[in-house]
Amino acid sequence: MATPAKKKVFPFLIFILLLPTIFIVISLYPPPPPPPPPTYFPLPSNSNFTLTIKLLTFNRLSALSRCLHSLSAARYDHDTVHLHIYLDHFNVSSIGSSKIDEKRRVSMEILDFLDGFKWDHGQKMVHYRTGNVGLQAQWLEAWWPTSDDEFAFVVEDDLQLSPLYYRFLKGLIMNYYYNESNFSPMVYGASLQRPRFVPGKHGNKIQLDIDTHLFLYQLVGTWGQLLFPKPWKEFRLWYDDHKAKNIRPILDGMVTTGWYKKMGDKIWTPWFIKFIHSRGYFNIYTNFLGERALSVSHRDAGVNYGKTVGPDSNLVDETSTDLNLVNLPLLNHLKWYDYCFKEVLPNRIIKSSNEFGLIVQSLQHLDTILLVSVYGASESILMNLLCHFQKLNIFNYILLGPKSDFIVDLARRGHPVIDADQLFEHIGHQKLLKTKKSSVELTREFMVKAFAIKKCLELGYTTWIFHANIIPLANDSFANFVDPSKDFLVSETSKLLSVRSSPSSKKIWVDDFVYKIVAIAESSRSKDSSSIGENFVSTVKQLLQQMSIKLGLLDDAHFLLNGDDIHGNQTFSRNMEKVVSWPPKMNSDMIKKRLVNFDMWAVDDELSCSAVVCHKS
Ligand SMILES: *[C@@H]1O[C@H](CO)[C@@H](O)[C@H](O)[C@H]1NC(C)=O
Ligand SMILES: *[C@@H]1O[C@H](CO)[C@@H](O)[C@H](O)[C@H]1NC(C)=O
Ligand SMILES: *[C@@H]1O[C@H](CO)[C@@H](O)[C@H](O)[C@H]1NC(C)=O
Ligand SMILES: *[C@@H]1O[C@H](CO)[C@@H](O)[C@H](O)[C@H]1NC(C)=O
Ligand SMILES: *[C@@H]1O[C@H](CO)[C@@H](O)[C@H](O)[C@H]1NC(C)=O
Repeated sequence: MATPAKKKVFPFLIFILLLPTIFIVISLYPPPPPPPPPTYFPLPSNSNFTLTIKLLTFNRLSALSRCLHSLSAARYDHDTVHLHIYLDHFNVSSIGSSKIDEKRRVSMEILDFLDGFKWDHGQKMVHYRTGNVGLQAQWLEAWWPTSDDEFAFVVEDDLQLSPLYYRFLKGLIMNYYYNESNFSPMVYGASLQRPRFVPGKHGNKIQLDIDTHLFLYQLVGTWGQLLFPKPWKEFRLWYDDHKAKNIRPILDGMVTTGWYKKMGDKIWTPWFIKFIHSRGYFNIYTNFLGERALSVSHRDAGVNYGKTVGPDSNLVDETSTDLNLVNLPLLNHLKWYDYCFKEVLPNRIIKSSNEFGLIVQSLQHLDTILLVSVYGASESILMNLLCHFQKLNIFNYILLGPKSDFIVDLARRGHPVIDADQLFEHIGHQKLLKTKKSSVELTREFMVKAFAIKKCLELGYTTWIFHANIIPLANDSFANFVDPSKDFLVSETSKLLSVRSSPSSKKIWVDDFVYKIVAIAESSRSKDSSSIGENFVSTVKQLLQQMSIKLGLLDDAHFLLNGDDIHGNQTFSRNMEKVVSWPPKMNSDMIKKRLVNFDMWAVDDELSCSAVVCHKS
């Protein structure tokens, strides 16, 4: 014990002797001040990035003046930022002639003010309209991007901006637009207003933990909205198309659709909201402690407010050092929320056997998994099923099928998917398949289905597997079929199979069983090449019967049957307690017609759900 202490004496002596020198050195060289935090973003030298402020104004000079002064006082770090001001005209036909001079005087004052207003950061442009166009045209006509490097920040005149707003926007653009590893085509811009509103009826309250400073949310914000060029162009074309065809932006279950029905084309947001819903896009939002935001609305009397309400939030000022505006999180660390403020989990794609666990656990916390085979399914029929799932609060499903743009897009929108092609490659490498190399579709399909069921059993889940030819009518429809004395339930006509999680089923559904299913597929392929697609259930049934395992045969009277029976309304309605189904081969126009008759067609012409249905979570 003594030795180590002794060893320390010598350095200590040296330290004592050097002490005066150290003091002298310290006093000669005062410690350097801490480096200033990096506060601006040097532009990538090869970028053509430009940002233009689009300020929409009408008849509120004092608001406009407050807004412009806040914009002018912000930090631009020597960047060029243009200012375009759109001054709407008063509505000549809605005012009496006695008021005209007064209205003209207000406009003149505003124009004088604008003429005198100095904008040092770029070009100033004033667009003074000849007639009243209202808020919708003010927004929609404010911008047509001339390149993919041009960004617009739209500001209404009763806003006030934080001095840090531009640095923040630029940081977002550099990080989430120009940096490929954080870019997503799903992101259409960023709102600087404090998020408060959930437009889906009966949606969740906005609740985020204090460490979440950034998140993604579908809703557009009108109090300081940054727009990315490509999605905005896409929207403008979509709007033109819908307007020309007289298609109205109705999205059931949304508070904003009520606004549209009341205010019609005075407002533009219902159009944008419907567009975003059909594309599955998202907006970036901030969440700062203390009800702070980089843009606040004074909610002055005007189109949106009958009388002045006052600021909605506290403005972030330059002393807000707790805000990290520089090191922005990776895109895939941000959370995504839909119009119900329900979290969306994008890009859950199972490509290998070890990805099952995490993704299966991310589904609703139930002991059952619905495996929906999308082999041969039409996009509209599948989408209709997904809309029914949403309506019924069913989230314990996984889509299973070959990779296609449609499936990848569904995964992007938050529907969990098994990529059958890649999974097949992966499990093939595991030498599970000992037979001849085969990449034929049927083999692949049977293999992946059988393997997925095996994985679900291993993870302790009961599995229902079916095509997109069955629509449950309640969230517990499948549970209603369960027969506790049977591990396996089959409906031959509807091609539905259920495998219950139990020790005995796990003993049956082993690698060898999977292999046998695949072997049958291979042999049937050589015999009959036309039977692609729907025979998995029959194959399993046949195999189980050969092994003398007891199956429950589902009473097919539970289902709508018979594709030939065009006028089969009676059959249909009689069996509507649990599920509605049809033979997988039935023609999709026919299916649609029938479902429309029974008010079960939940998809609009753009293949998105015609309603938003929220469930408290
Ligand atoms: C910037 O614009 C010029 C002219 O359109 C183009 O040639 C150049 O490739 C652009 N640079 C980048 C990085 O996009
Ligand atoms: C202008 O006023 C007329 C008459 O009140 C009205 O019909 C019209 O919709 C108004 N225009 C706008 C853009 O609000
Ligand atoms: C892009 O983002 C990645 C991941 O955040 C980061 O490692 C990289 O440095 C960024 N690139 C640039 C040019 O900022
Ligand atoms: C299922 O539906 C019933 C009746 O509509 C409802 O009471 C129940 O909460 C739902 N369960 C889930 C998990 O959504
Ligand atoms: C089927 O029933 C629905 C609702 O009862 C009815 O509106 C429809 O006309 C019927 N269709 C046929 C083909 O009978």
